[in-house]
Amino acid sequence: MSLSRRHLLVSAAAAAAASAFARAAFAQAPMLPKKDTYKVGFAQTESNNPWRLAQTKSMQDEAAARGWQMVYTDAAGSAAKQVADVNSMIAQGVDLIFLAPREELPLIPAIKAAKGANIPIILLDRNVDQSLAKAGEDYVTFIGSDFIEEGKRVAEWLVANAGGKSKILQLEGTTGSSPANDRKKGFDDVIAANAAFTMLASQTGDFARDKGRQVAETLLQAHPDADIIYAHNDEMAIGAISAVEAAGKVAGKDVMILSIDGGKEIVQLIIDGKVAAVCECSPLFGPKAFDTAVAYANGEVIPAKLINPDRFYDITNAAESLATAY
Ligand code: AHR
Repeated sequence: MSLSRRHLLVSAAAAAAASAFARAAFAQAPMLPKKDTYKVGFAQTESNNPWRLAQTKSMQDEAAARGWQMVYTDAAGSAAKQVADVNSMIAQGVDLIFLAPREELPLIPAIKAAKGANIPIILLDRNVDQSLAKAGEDYVTFIGSDFIEEGKRVAEWLVANAGGKSKILQLEGTTGSSPANDRKKGFDDVIAANAAFTMLASQTGDFARDKGRQVAETLLQAHPDADIIYAHNDEMAIGAISAVEAAGKVAGKDVMILSIDGGKEIVQLIIDGKVAAVCECSPLFGPKAFDTAVAYANGEVIPAKLINPDRFYDITNAAESLATAY
């Protein structure tokens, strides 16, 4: 082989190796350098309920305990604002962003922008569309509950404890959000496999108390025979209790109420006999979120998902659980 041909082949091989290396490097989520302290961002989705307030406090307390600076934003229920919030954190040069994405699709460009700016993102509590962004590549990891399992646990409790009730109204969370999609799937799959139950209607109440009340009122008017309401969170379940009472019925007797979240208020409502069962979804992310960031900076391998354990409340354990509910 002539010298110039061999030179060409060697150069081509070197270029291919360099390009494969660059592709592999870009396939990785950005690294977090080891430092004594960090400036991190926390992009919250909204602050209109006790769950979100508890999550924010847990993050702020942890940042303060570690002496880290935390840039906090509240998207006030707008995915567009949350994208702008993440872009602002990028412009402020934070070291890492904790993101609680409001919906699965609209936050994808923000995740890609952070990656382009070499800033790692850790997803908290809600996930994004897995066909468009991946753990370990576009973001570091997802920390949160298994929402499908939450819906399934509520449905399985219902199957075992319905006591003759069978006609269900479902109040879904925010449309397009991972907890709404997954809590519906987990619940619906169990119910669909059980001929004793009928899903009369399923509609979004946007995870909000008053919207949940309004939607439950409308659905109860359309389906006066409904005797079970499954709400995707405590706020809508509490709104639904008002709707049941406004319809002249007794929550916990005429209509069984089921929920997910497990704040103090709903656990007390189990004790009061108005709510039947609740799957916990803990909002206390601070310690785990910050520990994960430190582990990442230390070069530890972080799994694609870090699943929080959730308790389950009904009348058998509500009184003893009240003190430790968030
Ligand atoms: O993403 C978790 C859900 O979001 C909680 O169940 C709900 O209360 C919150 O708004």
